[in-house]
Amino acid sequence: MARRQARAAGSGRWLPWLGLALLPLAVPPAAAAPGGCPSACYCVATPELVQCRYERLEEPPRELPVSVHNLSIVGSNLSVLHRAAFAARPLPDLRLLRLHHDNIQTVEDMALQGLPALRTLDLSHNPLVSVAAGAFAGVPLLRTLQLNQALLAAPLEEQLALALRNLSLRRLELAGNALRALPATLLPAGLEELDLHNNSLQRLTATELRSLDAPGLQGLRLTLGANPLSCDCTLRPFLAWLRATTARVPDARSLRCTGPPPLRGATLLRLRPEGLVCSATEGGEPGRLETASYVFFGIVLALIGIVFLMVLYLNRRGIKRWLHNLREACRDQMEGYHYRYEQDADPHRTSTISTPGL
Ligand SMILES: *[C@@H]1O[C@H](CO)[C@@H](O)[C@H](O)[C@H]1NC(C)=O
Ligand SMILES: *[C@@H]1O[C@H](CO)[C@@H](O)[C@H](O)[C@H]1NC(C)=O
Ligand SMILES: *[C@@H]1O[C@H](CO)[C@@H](O)[C@H](O)[C@H]1NC(C)=O
Ligand SMILES: *[C@@H]1O[C@H](CO)[C@@H](O)[C@H](O)[C@H]1NC(C)=O
Repeated sequence: MARRQARAAGSGRWLPWLGLALLPLAVPPAAAAPGGCPSACYCVATPELVQCRYERLEEPPRELPVSVHNLSIVGSNLSVLHRAAFAARPLPDLRLLRLHHDNIQTVEDMALQGLPALRTLDLSHNPLVSVAAGAFAGVPLLRTLQLNQALLAAPLEEQLALALRNLSLRRLELAGNALRALPATLLPAGLEELDLHNNSLQRLTATELRSLDAPGLQGLRLTLGANPLSCDCTLRPFLAWLRATTARVPDARSLRCTGPPPLRGATLLRLRPEGLVCSATEGGEPGRLETASYVFFGIVLALIGIVFLMVLYLNRRGIKRWLHNLREACRDQMEGYHYRYEQDADPHRTSTISTPGL
């Protein structure tokens, strides 16, 4: 173990500490400790690993062993990843670059120039606001991009879509980004793994599911745990797809419903698509439900009407007789009335009722 005092040039302001994990595989272990330590850091070295803790850093360190494979800068304040930030000291063997919790807001064009072997880039836990279209240009071997909790500061999907368009990514991590829909524009052809856990997805729609079957994405597997899946009728297309292609969702068996209340916590794969219902209060598709109940009400009314007409039709003789009787009764009444009237109008009787019938 070797330990050295920091000699970082800086403004004198305290900056968050920075951790630097180096794995200079090409350097013999004995030489790793003294040779692998940049002068501007506290440095702890073991035969396998060199770790440095910077006190002040606003840009990537310049004194790094050329043979470094893994570099990790954590908890610093890089703010802007400038164009060719690493080009002053090219690292031809660097495979993994971790830049998380570094307050990175902007990634400029060609920021990673000078890292031709880079395969894994971790930009997680940064408040990204701007990513240039050519941000990842110059790293043709990049296969894994980690952007967990990095898209919360600004709507970044359009910019990222441009930046990712030309990459040959195999794995993309977008966990914890409060995504409400599948980021279909961020999926370059050939992508094999997409991590979407801990987002705000309530479902995947039929359209989104179709985009997962686009050419180049048929081998894509998605992780979907810890999303607030809403097990109402709008989840049917997704559930049917999930049951048919369980292998494409590695954590399918652990997916659970977050709502509606009767299904909260239920294991998704135990449910049947046709068993998922929408109720008006759940806010699923109340419009459709209301239409359905109106149609039902109309049908019932029509049936009652038809039955009524049938009864009338079957009873037409009885009704005719009944009408006849009614007319007879009326006529009898009228005749009685006439008779009385004529009696009343008898000139022999003195009466005050002089005009009974107008
Ligand atoms: C270096 O990164 C690789 C992944 O690219 C990883 O397997 C390995 O464990 C890392 N080494 C150290 C010491 O962190
Ligand atoms: C980080 O750096 C930016 C400019 O480079 C500065 O404005 C900001 O105050 C710094 N943040 C902290 C926490 O030091
Ligand atoms: C995409 O990459 C190809 C080479 O792989 C390059 O010729 C082309 O200019 C790139 N396009 C963009 C928009 O970066
Ligand atoms: C999930 O993501 C949110 C941000 O969207 C974050 O605050 C929270 O810590 C994450 N939870 C876990 C378990 O990672």
